Amino acid sequence: MHIHRYERWWLTFGISMLIVFLGLIAFAAFADNVNPPSGMQQIDPTKVSKTPPFDKPGLRKLSDGSYEAYYVAEVFAFIPAVLNVPAGSKVTFYVTSADVVHGFFIPETDINMMAVPGWVNEQSHTFSKPGEYLLICHEYCGIGHQNMFAKIEVK
Ligand code: CUA
Repeated sequence: MHIHRYERWWLTFGISMLIVFLGLIAFAAFADNVNPPSGMQQIDPTKVSKTPPFDKPGLRKLSDGSYEAYYVAEVFAFIPAVLNVPAGSKVTFYVTSADVVHGFFIPETDINMMAVPGWVNEQSHTFSKPGEYLLICHEYCGIGHQNMFAKIEVK
């Protein structure tokens, strides 16, 4: 089969770029430990309301001054519905679902996760700007999906 010289150059270039980019992703994952914020911790999805700390969802202060926020997502609400956070604090969100897959998205921050039954996902954000933040479900989860939201009040 005859392949034109230019076509061969472009094929070589394209395949080389694929190898370079796949190599970079593998390097980031294994050498720099850059991974999706999921699959870190497992939980029995039928016993979420009885499993600490998800039996009492909400905010906890840590000894270093930062916070942990435990959230349960279920059709069609987040628990807690309102979270009060002092301005300037770093909050690590832990989220799981008690039923189907939900989204966990706080616009204007870097919090963007899925709430997956059976798993606890984790992501952190420092709320330097006071105000009212919306937490929304951005993963279609059923008939009440568009009403599934919560609030984070930063003062
Ligand atoms: Cu929960 Cu959409």
